[in-house]
Amino acid sequence: TEGRLWGGRFGGGPSEAMFALSKSTQFDWRLALHDIAGSRAHAKALLAAGLLGSDEADAMDAGLAELARRVAAGEFLPAADDEDVHGALERGLKEVVGSELGGRLRAGRSRNDQIATLIRSYLRTELRSIALAVDEVLDALGTQADAYMGAVMPGRTHLQSAQPVLLSHHLLAHAWPLVRDIERLRDLDARLAVSPYGSAALAGTSLGLDPQLVAHELGFSSSVPNSIDGTASRDLVAEATWVLAQVGIDLSRLSEDVILWCTAEFGFAKLDDAWSTGSSIMPQKKNPDVAELARGKAGRLIGNLTGLLATLKGLPLAYNRDLQEDKEPIFDSIDQLHVLLPAVAGMVGTLTFDRARMAAVAPMGFSLATDVADHLVRHRVPFAVAHEVAGEAVRYCESRSMTLQELTVEDLGHISEHLDASVLDVLTVEGSVAARDGRGGTAPLRVTEQLGELRSRQSGL
Ligand code: ARG
Repeated sequence: TEGRLWGGRFGGGPSEAMFALSKSTQFDWRLALHDIAGSRAHAKALLAAGLLGSDEADAMDAGLAELARRVAAGEFLPAADDEDVHGALERGLKEVVGSELGGRLRAGRSRNDQIATLIRSYLRTELRSIALAVDEVLDALGTQADAYMGAVMPGRTHLQSAQPVLLSHHLLAHAWPLVRDIERLRDLDARLAVSPYGSAALAGTSLGLDPQLVAHELGFSSSVPNSIDGTASRDLVAEATWVLAQVGIDLSRLSEDVILWCTAEFGFAKLDDAWSTGSSIMPQKKNPDVAELARGKAGRLIGNLTGLLATLKGLPLAYNRDLQEDKEPIFDSIDQLHVLLPAVAGMVGTLTFDRARMAAVAPMGFSLATDVADHLVRHRVPFAVAHEVAGEAVRYCESRSMTLQELTVEDLGHISEHLDASVLDVLTVEGSVAARDGRGGTAPLRVTEQLGELRSRQSGL
């Protein structure tokens, strides 16, 4: 009962099952150091309001510093009958500074504004480290794009051959969504840097405590303008959960490519031994488990988001205990990405690609047909006509089981009056790729430029 922060109006303690349901130390203990940082800031506000003398404030601060040391060293842990991180730490503080002084700390604050502040400061720290781990995946993609600059591959839409592209262009296409994810994590930080401390239970405090003082002590940019919103909202936790789910989705799409590329049928890429696994029965197997776990965990991250959104929907203002259910989903998303991101970076960075295989497959499926049409447009043929002519060339080749590059001048004459030997010059994969030379296109010069742009964007992140 030492770790329980209420009781005066109750005849007895909670029943065992009630306590088991209510208890949160098994997951909220990870917030302990953030809670202590909040308490140290709160003690300064108590001092400024004249509710602690300066000797008391010094003793309180030293006591909280000692408690933080014990927590960090694993010397102080929640006990079985502590209800939550806040109760456990008050018990710990009293052990350090005595019950009299320890019992003064929570004047003018509630667990409601406390937890709302802690989750924000915890997220600020964790999202920064997730952003760094995402950046490692960007490094891996950039390094590979650089190493394989010039290698061609089939570009696909609908998973069907579409037009040849550079492998580097395709790899960088997986980088940009991750850049945006990092930017989302960064700009979410500005919204998280607003402190709910001082909101107390819901209405603010009558004790003259300065919420801005606490906010600035905690490294936040300001305090919340509305105490009800400060304690009742969890949209920022939902936003964090969404950005992490989006990271998972982006890794999952990259992973799906890796899985396909490593099949015998594609044969575009090989996984490094260190980033793949074998089969207990099939001796030949080399499985892309990292990529599959990325794909699988994306589902779990989406589940964390939808679960939290469902918890928030329809909640009346202000604080409701339902809000305690915000923590496990976001904690799980963070934990999963901490494990997943380094593995994806390792897998991507060590892939080896088969340039010859990709080049051989690049023109398959008549992927140069658009180049035939574009060639005719450059010779002033209307695109609608050019599209028809190129389509006829494809049909001609398909019925004779030949490729567009195998067409002779005689074949061209049979297909259309618009076609002559000049079209044969554009029927190469390299020419097709090099021709797409507008900003953002797959031409080697543009992709090199793009890689530079990625790197400078990364250095600004
Ligand atoms: N553990 C709660 C949470 O995570 C905070 C405590 C507020 N509890 C209360 N009975 N007012 O949201």
